Amino acid sequence: MTAQTQETRPDGEGPDEAELLAAFDATIARHDRIEPRDWMPEKYRSTLVRQIAQHAHSEIIGMQPEGNWITRAPSLRRKAILLAKVQDEAGHGLYLYSACETLGVSRQELTLKLVEGRQKYSSIFNYPTLSYADVGTIGWLVDGAAICNQVPLCRTSYGPYGRAMIRVCKEESFHQRQGFELLSTMMRGTDEQRAMVQESVDRFWWPALMMFGPPDDDSPNTEQSMAWGIKRDTNDELRQKFVDMSVPQAEALGVTLPDDGLVWNAERGHHDFSQPDWDEFYAVVKGSGPCNAQRIAHRRRAHEDGAWVRDAATAFARRQQETVQRGSAS
Ligand SMILES: [Fe+2]
Ligand SMILES: [Fe+2]
Repeated sequence: MTAQTQETRPDGEGPDEAELLAAFDATIARHDRIEPRDWMPEKYRSTLVRQIAQHAHSEIIGMQPEGNWITRAPSLRRKAILLAKVQDEAGHGLYLYSACETLGVSRQELTLKLVEGRQKYSSIFNYPTLSYADVGTIGWLVDGAAICNQVPLCRTSYGPYGRAMIRVCKEESFHQRQGFELLSTMMRGTDEQRAMVQESVDRFWWPALMMFGPPDDDSPNTEQSMAWGIKRDTNDELRQKFVDMSVPQAEALGVTLPDDGLVWNAERGHHDFSQPDWDEFYAVVKGSGPCNAQRIAHRRRAHEDGAWVRDAATAFARRQQETVQRGSAS
């Protein structure tokens, strides 16, 4: 069941705004889904567009740091795994752009906003990949953090977004495992390989913690997003979950997480840990990360290079339609 927004009153008049809002609120309260045909408050729609677009852009921009290593994979097996993973991310971007289009924005519009810097993507992808160990660390920590963020989104209140997330999460789980498996293979290798893994984890640990967004006190949209069922957990709750999940995995790998403040707190039943450098986070979000300019320039170039494909597909679709019209006219 979804909000009964399409019904009309017996006198033939449509429901007024207060009635529509009441139906919307009731749907949210029942933990039902809001669907594209349903009435929704404008702020709910624009919040979703912002969140889903940011998510879609992250999937697409996230192909770059790892794509950087495809031609230099150390074996055919590693190359096949990495290719499959990067292609999955392209698929995630496409599901999410499609989900966003159900809210009345076009993919063209979203792409322009990305390349013009008017919409954001995850800050993590503005860090460079400096060694093959980074492919493993990104799978383990970055896809691991993505899973923590995304599993609750399978129950998000907007139908197309929640359904896209179910499929995405299954694939993220494969991404996390392939990363962990690569790191565990390297940790059983030479001293040099172990040092590569540790150096990579040292670089990615803090940016991975930043992936959950700013602390709750500094996250003005969280409260409304939770009330609307768009978000199911706060940034700090998700960050804690990620730390608790990562500690035993780091032990199993034999790597050290670079935080002296990381200790088990028996009273809380969670690990205590230090805060990342939030000044760095805001600087990266605002465009001053090590790779922001490079990532956007690459995306812009790829979009321009693809113009002939879009033109050809549009011309083909137009011709098909004309053929059908001619057929039905005769
Ligand atoms: Fe993904
Ligand atoms: Fe992934």
